[in-house]
Amino acid sequence: MPAEQFVSALNEQIGRELGASHQYVAVAVYYDGLTLPRLAGFFYGQALEERDHAMMMVKYLLDADETPVIPAVGEPTAGFADIVEPVAIALEQERRVTDQISSLAAVARDAGDYVSEQFTQWFLKEQVEEIATMSDLLRVVERGRDNPLLVEEYLAREHPAAEADDPTAPPAAGGAI
Ligand SMILES: [Fe+2]
Ligand SMILES: [Fe+2]
Repeated sequence: MPAEQFVSALNEQIGRELGASHQYVAVAVYYDGLTLPRLAGFFYGQALEERDHAMMMVKYLLDADETPVIPAVGEPTAGFADIVEPVAIALEQERRVTDQISSLAAVARDAGDYVSEQFTQWFLKEQVEEIATMSDLLRVVERGRDNPLLVEEYLAREHPAAEADDPTAPPAAGGAI
């Protein structure tokens, strides 16, 4: 049985992952509207990944006979000043999530719930990657502020398709997407 404090903290995180997914949809739609298909595609993909994170947390609670709570999701930020702002917001969001997952790990550890602590480890590793990817992208969009095609070319070169399946990822409710 996961610790009660961990269950409620994980339920809150499910809402935040869904919020992150929602924010990335808004970013993808913004780039799509500017006919920047690679940037749009990258963020549509990120939105699915965040949803998947939420579903992994849902599955963890279901498997432990706990009740996952699917909350309302707040309105995402939209209407961006330029092509740089959405990536800056995304990087900030990923940093925030890293802190949130770290606190989640701390809640589990403090409660002596080492199984749940172990569950958080994959997400921490994932955050390291996401922050690195988003920092790189921020640098590239800053460079391509006046020439977004540079960013499109970078994404075509460096992120040609959806990420390969990670066999170490926790299972997601509803199956892998
Ligand atoms: Fe996430
Ligand atoms: Fe993320």
